[in-house]
Amino acid sequence: MPKNIQAIRGMHDVLPDESPLWQFLEARVKDVLGQYGYREIRTPMLEMTELFRRSIGEVTDIVEKEMYTFQDRNGDSLTLRPEGTAGCVRAGIENGLFHNQVQRLWYQGGMFRHERPQKGRYRQFHQIGAEAYGLAGPDIDLEIILVTRRFWQALGLDEPELQINTLGTVEERGVYREQLVAYLSAHRDQLDEESLRRLGSNPLRILDSKSPAMKPLIDAAPSLMEHLGEASRQHFDAIRQGLDTIGLSYRVNPRLVRGLDYYSRTVFEWVTTRLGAQGTVCAGGRYDGLVGQLGGRPIPAIGFAMGVERLVALLQEQGIGQGLNVPHAYLVLAAGEPQNQGMLLAERLRDELPSLRLISHCGGGSFKSQFKKADRSGASYALVLGEDELNRRVVGIKPLRQAAEQREVAFDGLREFFLSEAF
Ligand code: HAM
Repeated sequence: MPKNIQAIRGMHDVLPDESPLWQFLEARVKDVLGQYGYREIRTPMLEMTELFRRSIGEVTDIVEKEMYTFQDRNGDSLTLRPEGTAGCVRAGIENGLFHNQVQRLWYQGGMFRHERPQKGRYRQFHQIGAEAYGLAGPDIDLEIILVTRRFWQALGLDEPELQINTLGTVEERGVYREQLVAYLSAHRDQLDEESLRRLGSNPLRILDSKSPAMKPLIDAAPSLMEHLGEASRQHFDAIRQGLDTIGLSYRVNPRLVRGLDYYSRTVFEWVTTRLGAQGTVCAGGRYDGLVGQLGGRPIPAIGFAMGVERLVALLQEQGIGQGLNVPHAYLVLAAGEPQNQGMLLAERLRDELPSLRLISHCGGGSFKSQFKKADRSGASYALVLGEDELNRRVVGIKPLRQAAEQREVAFDGLREFFLSEAF
């Protein structure tokens, strides 16, 4: 026997029992994005490797060790996108979307990172993200956060915790970086291996370390907040005031530094305690330098991305969306003439009721076996068409989920029946 070929580690099939939940989530999220005027952009899954090196940053986990990079037949170095922001900026510059215009964009799709797979962390995962370009003020930061809050409401999810921080400008971070390196170097003996490595390359990431042994050292480290210039401070204060006015609760987390290098000023994450270690369901921030860094005329930008697998897990955990997309009815058919007439009737019903989910039995078999299949389909009703029913132009209707009697409805009355009973 040939060996079965399996999916790649960390990459998953979304099976038909779960896909209704994905569709529900995607539909609700798209509606919300539309409410705020965000428009969809679709960019390629493959980009030149250079794009991610220059945007996410050479000394980040993603670029150093997680990218799916290969040479194509022309010898170009290509990478499967590990996130959506870089491609969005590339597309915006290339297509002139940023010339004297404000753009509100969103995207969705598969992303690829060669991380160690665990619950909530995969090698192919899906994001829905949004980006706003051309707006420098704190009002758009606030809007972006409000968009994300509306997702939780639209999906019926308990609100995760909103954590916010500011990373200042590149210059402010430069000054802070020096102080941080001086502090950490003085306590070199308390740094773990990973942090020692980061000390020379990306010391801010050390603040994000999850090592309990280093917590006291990190807690006592100098704070970036104290190194902010006046404009950055005002920007952050304005966001906080906005959140307070709206009544949106949040926590300032001075250790929130994010794993991508392009951020400036505002960063935020929505974190849930319901999913174990991988609790960040949505994350983002401002990246005012990136468009210029990638060769465009510099314009301010801010955005976020959500992990769809994590949100689906949250929906499941909260029991939301059970029974989505189950069929309303299953048509049980006797062989011969009822088979064709039944198909015809089903077509007519689908014409009249486009949202009716009706499975016509195919493959023959006894009524008994067909009823079993009807039951297993999850349908609310079995519709029965035998010779006798066909002669009288009626359909037997047997409720499958409630203890009501079977009854008969004339062909012409079926539309009415479904409008009043099944929806
Ligand atoms: P990120 O924090 O790398 O940011 O990813 C955003 C979200 O994607 C995470 O909060 C998480 O929910 C999900 N995610 C990330 N990695 C995985 C994984 N391996 N498995 C499952 N889910 C994952 C970005 O990607 C930025 N581009 C966000 C952004 C947009 N910032 C500004 N604009």
